[in-house]
Amino acid sequence: MALPIFNSRVFFAPMAGVSDPALRLICKELGAGLVVTPFTNIHAIVARKEIDKEIKKFIEFSPKEKPIAVQLFGSDIEQLTRAVHIVEKHFDIIDYNMGCPSPTVTEQMACSALLQEPELTRKIFRAMVNATTKPVTLKMRSGIDKPDCFKLIARIAEEEGITMVTFHPRTVKQGYAGNANWSLIKELKEQVSIPVVGNGDIRTPEDAQRMFDETGCDYVMVGRAAAQNPFLFTQMNEFLETGTYKETSCRERITMFFKYLKYAEEYPTIKLSNIRMHAMNFSKGCKGSKRLRGKLLTVQSVEDIKKLFNEFYDSLE
Ligand SMILES: Cc1cc2nc3c(=O)[nH]c(=O)nc-3n(C[C@H](O)[C@H](O)[C@H](O)COP(=O)(O)O)c2cc1C
Repeated sequence: MALPIFNSRVFFAPMAGVSDPALRLICKELGAGLVVTPFTNIHAIVARKEIDKEIKKFIEFSPKEKPIAVQLFGSDIEQLTRAVHIVEKHFDIIDYNMGCPSPTVTEQMACSALLQEPELTRKIFRAMVNATTKPVTLKMRSGIDKPDCFKLIARIAEEEGITMVTFHPRTVKQGYAGNANWSLIKELKEQVSIPVVGNGDIRTPEDAQRMFDETGCDYVMVGRAAAQNPFLFTQMNEFLETGTYKETSCRERITMFFKYLKYAEEYPTIKLSNIRMHAMNFSKGCKGSKRLRGKLLTVQSVEDIKKLFNEFYDSLE
């Protein structure tokens, strides 16, 4: 199945507890070519569907985020097929998670545990591709203890009709320690002919350019640095096009945070702790942000945060 057209070669990574629908929409407006929901358990999707039929209440998203991918995890083929049927009409891409290193999921033979199960993985890809007319994509790590399985898994993915692979070249054992080994992205790109999305440790527009240059990947995906500064998408797009980019002022960042708050009001599942985390990120590095940080730790409501940020905005030069 054909991939949608992306307006930018820079994507926003799925991050459970971080990339909520309001933040994704901000990233999209600031230039992300694709946004992806955090991973969702196929069993939960099937169970919820039986309870209230409204998947939108469970996986929150907005059509304004389009093109948007939904990310699934779980290896029970029957449940996976049912989950794909439930979500497919709402999303442009169905992404499959083989990257999460957390024991709570790997112990259920899901996510990165599948890297060492090529035959089961093949069955999973085949079932997903057969179950939908939407493109199915894959996000994976390089291996369990060492970077040895990614090429085989990517080859199987391509053979079974997966249309794009996002690669975070760290092993499961590494977690988030050390550096992502970008040379493995180059090796993967030489191995398959489907588009490869390089991911891991891009912090600046220069890093994004360097990943394209060093690996030959088709797209890049940015997670943590973009959550800290969503303006990075505008800067990366500008840099990739012109070789320069504008710095963002604190006033622009705080104004964008107010927009985030407005969007967040629409989504009941976004917790106060998440909003507080984004508040800290959007104001990081601005004059007086340390004091603001202290005050943010004691807020009890979104109204408290708004009040603090109004005062903070007025104090900016
Ligand atoms: C808090 C957190 C949650 C994450 N949740 C997911 C997830 O739900 N699905 C997924 O594929 N990757 C997840 N990741 C991995 C990121 O998508 C990305 O691969 C990783 O952070 C490396 O990219 P970066 O260096 O640009 O952050 C998560 C990462 C973090 C830090």
